[in-house]
Amino acid sequence: MWKPDRHSRQPLYEQIADHIEQRIAYGEFPPGSLLPSERKLAAELGVNRSTVIMAFDELRATGIVERRTGSGTRVSTTKWEIAPKHTPNWKRYAQGGQFLPNLPFMRKIREALTRDPSLIDFASGELAADLAPINEIAALMSEHRYTSYLGYDNPQGYIPLRQALVSYLAEHRNIRATEASILVTSGSQQSLYLITQCLLSPGDAVAIEDPSYCYSLPMFQSAGLRLFRLPVDPYGVHPEDVRALYKKHRIKMVFTNPNFHNPTGTVLAAERRKQLLEAASELALPIVEDDPFSLTAYEGTPPSPLKSMDEIGSVLYIGSFSKIAASGLRIGWMVAPREIAERLADARQQMDFGLSVIPQQVAAQFLSSSYFAPHLKRLRMQLLFKRDLLVEALNKELPDLIRFAVPSGGLHLWCKLVPEIHDGRLLEEGIRRGVVFVPGSVYGSDSGFVRFTFARARTEDIPAGVAKFAEALRAAIGG
Ligand SMILES: Cc1ncc(COP(=O)(O)O)c(C=O)c1O
Repeated sequence: MWKPDRHSRQPLYEQIADHIEQRIAYGEFPPGSLLPSERKLAAELGVNRSTVIMAFDELRATGIVERRTGSGTRVSTTKWEIAPKHTPNWKRYAQGGQFLPNLPFMRKIREALTRDPSLIDFASGELAADLAPINEIAALMSEHRYTSYLGYDNPQGYIPLRQALVSYLAEHRNIRATEASILVTSGSQQSLYLITQCLLSPGDAVAIEDPSYCYSLPMFQSAGLRLFRLPVDPYGVHPEDVRALYKKHRIKMVFTNPNFHNPTGTVLAAERRKQLLEAASELALPIVEDDPFSLTAYEGTPPSPLKSMDEIGSVLYIGSFSKIAASGLRIGWMVAPREIAERLADARQQMDFGLSVIPQQVAAQFLSSSYFAPHLKRLRMQLLFKRDLLVEALNKELPDLIRFAVPSGGLHLWCKLVPEIHDGRLLEEGIRRGVVFVPGSVYGSDSGFVRFTFARARTEDIPAGVAKFAEALRAAIGG
């Protein structure tokens, strides 16, 4: 006798609906026949009657069964006789596969922004149109004839872009790379995806910062990885914690975002960088350095990447165009030992035959052009201006209710809310008033933190956005 599996991820009512649908399809319950009563089925299957009712509701919604008051639930005659073609149960398919859906808060924010693009956006981690090099890119596109052949390109990346990246990395990031050690990706996100899917196996333990951008990505759970936390303090992660996690869980990899960390804005202290690399080399432990923000340093010299100090090759370095130029170009890169770059390029080929050559050509032109350096200079100044506006507005609107450290680079400001607050409630109140931001719990933190991105909103909207947030916070406290 079939029974639903209580350990399955699929809810009981769905398992029951699937099971009944199968019995109908096999002819056990012909069209028009009466199904067992809810009470009887509940007793047979060892579940509550309400679970069977939900299963019947599900079957009714797809037209497989009908219910008439007083005469029980019958197999539909129209569905099964007159219209013998059945629509696949797409809802069920949509819940299948290995890839977990986005986090509910992230979906809520995306839905809110799609519904109402006039919301003031402190949530999207990207540059506003006026910070991106739109005119420069348009000029390059009209100056250059892009390609004479639009065939599949090398899955490791368009060679002139890899050459441009070798020079860029040497000049701006003090990283020595070769064309063979660079993999072009469609952004850091894809680099992380390739690493989690191709270099690690389900059940592997990895260390990620807490809080961390990585917690906002169900990608790590979808790959079946066991995540262990490295707390981030004002100087970044503590190398001793890496050693402790290795000892206890035999972690296979460390993911870190050491330069203007997302979400906290922290820069890993110089001494800790040295110690982290020492720990990695002693333990033969790879470090993934996710570095999309270092060149946004508003003033002075940007922090040096771990990769520039990596003498023995422990670091997989990930870079991106998204936060320094334009996220919509979808250009990122990885610097890795040759065998890893080739392995991941081979995986790329199987997934999508590599990236479109057009944005790669644009990126190569932009990096080698005289536009790049002045663009970066302007970007840093404008980010500083926007950061100051946000800080000033927060200090004015909420002097006693939030605390934060002022970042010296990156796109985000991480706030601790002084009152105890329910994340979901606060976001609801914010959306209602026309502002979105990311609740801190998305990044693995406890409730009571908020990440503001100041790069995406229009400059003139920042004070109004903070005023709306302040109202939302007061309403959430009041409730
Ligand atoms: C730390 C970090 N890594 C990776 C990404 C992914 O960026 P992209 O795929 O646009 O390069 C982001 C985006 O916000 C990020 O903040």
